[in-house]
Amino acid sequence: MENVHPHSDNLTTTLPTQIEVLGLSWHLILFPLLFYPTICLLLRYHRLRQTLEEFPYTTRKSFASMTNEHALHIQQNLSQLEFPTIFEKALQFALFRTYGIPSISRLLVHTGELSEAANATKRYADTVLLIAEFMNYDPISERSVEAIGRMNYIHSQYQKAGKISNEDMLYTLALFALEPARWISKYEWRKLEDFENCAVGTFWKGLGDAMGINYGKLRSSEWTDGLHWLDEVNEWSEGYEKEKMIPDLNNNKTADQTIAILLWNIPDALKPIGTKVVSALMDDRLRTAMMYEKPPQFYFTLLATIFNIRKYILRYFCLPRPYVFRYHLLSDEPSKENTYFLKTWEAHPWYVKPTLRNRFGPLAWISWLRGLPLPGDEGEKYWPKGYKLEQVGPNIMRGKGAEYWKESKEGLARERGKGCPFGRAKVE
Ligand SMILES: *[C@@H]1O[C@H](CO)[C@@H](O)[C@H](O)[C@H]1NC(C)=O
Ligand SMILES: *[C@@H]1O[C@H](CO)[C@@H](O)[C@H](O)[C@H]1NC(C)=O
Ligand SMILES: *[C@@H]1O[C@H](CO)[C@@H](O)[C@H](O)[C@H]1NC(C)=O
Repeated sequence: MENVHPHSDNLTTTLPTQIEVLGLSWHLILFPLLFYPTICLLLRYHRLRQTLEEFPYTTRKSFASMTNEHALHIQQNLSQLEFPTIFEKALQFALFRTYGIPSISRLLVHTGELSEAANATKRYADTVLLIAEFMNYDPISERSVEAIGRMNYIHSQYQKAGKISNEDMLYTLALFALEPARWISKYEWRKLEDFENCAVGTFWKGLGDAMGINYGKLRSSEWTDGLHWLDEVNEWSEGYEKEKMIPDLNNNKTADQTIAILLWNIPDALKPIGTKVVSALMDDRLRTAMMYEKPPQFYFTLLATIFNIRKYILRYFCLPRPYVFRYHLLSDEPSKENTYFLKTWEAHPWYVKPTLRNRFGPLAWISWLRGLPLPGDEGEKYWPKGYKLEQVGPNIMRGKGAEYWKESKEGLARERGKGCPFGRAKVE
C-alpha cells in the first residue's frame, strides 16, 4: 500500500474550504437555534393577543361584564388549542379527586356503576360526553342545554333519595373550575392570564346556576366577576377538603377501579409502575384519603423532569396547534338518525362510529393487541350508532326523564340566555 494516510497530503489545501463549510454550517445551525425558538414563542403568544383583540377584557372592571358565551369561547380555546393534553388530564383528575370524599365514593360503590369493567367505562364515557357537550357548544344551544338537562335529571334521581348533597355538588363543580388552572400553572408552557381565569370562573358559575347549586356556603352572596367567585370557591373547597377528604375503603375501591381504566391500554407487566406514577401525581392529602402508598422519590423526580422538558419543547420548539387540529372529542354534525359520536375511546368504544380509521387506525391496533372490542364489535353493545342526549346515563334511567328534560330545557335556555352570570350584562 502506497498511501497509508490518504488524507494527510491534502490537509493544507482543503482546510480553508472546510472552515468555510464550517462557517456556513455555523450559520445554518445558529440561525434556527436562535430564530426558530423566537418564532415559536411569538406565534404561541399570538393567539393570546388575538383573543384580547376580539374580546378586550383587559381591566378588572371589564371582567364584571363577561358573558357566558365569551367565557365559553375563551375556555374552549384553552382546552382545544392552547393546552389540550393537560386540560384533559386535569379534568380527569378533577373527577378522580372527588372520589377522595367518602360520601361521593360511597355512592359510586353502592350504585355498582364502577364495579364491572364495562359499566365503569360506560359511566366514564357518559360523564366525558356530557361535560364535552356543555363545554363546547354555545350556552343556549340545543346541545348544551340538553346535556345540562340530562345531567340534572340523573343527579335529581339521587338527590331525591338524599344521596347527593349540595356540598358535594359544589365541591365537584369547584374542582372542575380549579384543577385545569392548577395543572396548567404547574406543567404548561405558560400560565393562565387573569381574564382567562375569569372566563373559567364565569363559565362554571353559570353552569352551577344551571344545575341549581346553592352557593350559600361561600363567603359572599354576590360576586363582582368570575375571578372573585373562583377565589371564594377555592377558599371554601380547601376547607371542605381538609374536613372531608379522609381515608375510606370506598375511596380506595373507586381509585383502584378508575386507575384500572386509566391504565387499561398498557401491558400488565407495566401496571404496577403505572399505578406508582398515578400515585406520584397525587398530593399527600388525596393519596392518604385513597389509602395509597407514597411512591419512592424517583417517581416524583421522573415526572418533574418529563414535564419540565415538555414545557420547554412546547414553548420553544413547537408551533401552536392550528385550528383544524383542535382537540375535540365529539362529532359536530348529527348523523341521519340524529345521533352524535365520540371520536375516541378508553378501553371500550362507547358511542364510537365504526369508520375505517376507527377500526384500523392506531387506537384500534392498541385495542386489538389488548384483545378489546373495536368500534362496531359485539353488535349494538357499545352503541356504534351514536348517542342521543336523552339516552345517556345509567342503565336504570334509560328511556326515563323525558318529561323532566322537556320542562327544564326552556327554563335553562332562558336562564343561560341572560348573558353574564353575575347579572351585570345582557347579550347584545
Ligand atoms: C380561538 O382560536 C381561534 C384560532 O386561533 C381564533 O380564530 C379565535 O378568535 C379564538 N377565540 C377566542 C375566544 O380566543
Ligand atoms: C352493567 O352492565 C350490564 C351490561 O351492560 C348491565 O346489564 C347492568 O345493568 C349494568 N349494571 C349497572 C349497575 O348499571
Ligand atoms: C388500597 O389500594 C391499594 C392499591 O390498589 C392496595 O395496595 C391497598 O391494599 C388498598 N388498601 C386497602 C386498605 O384495601
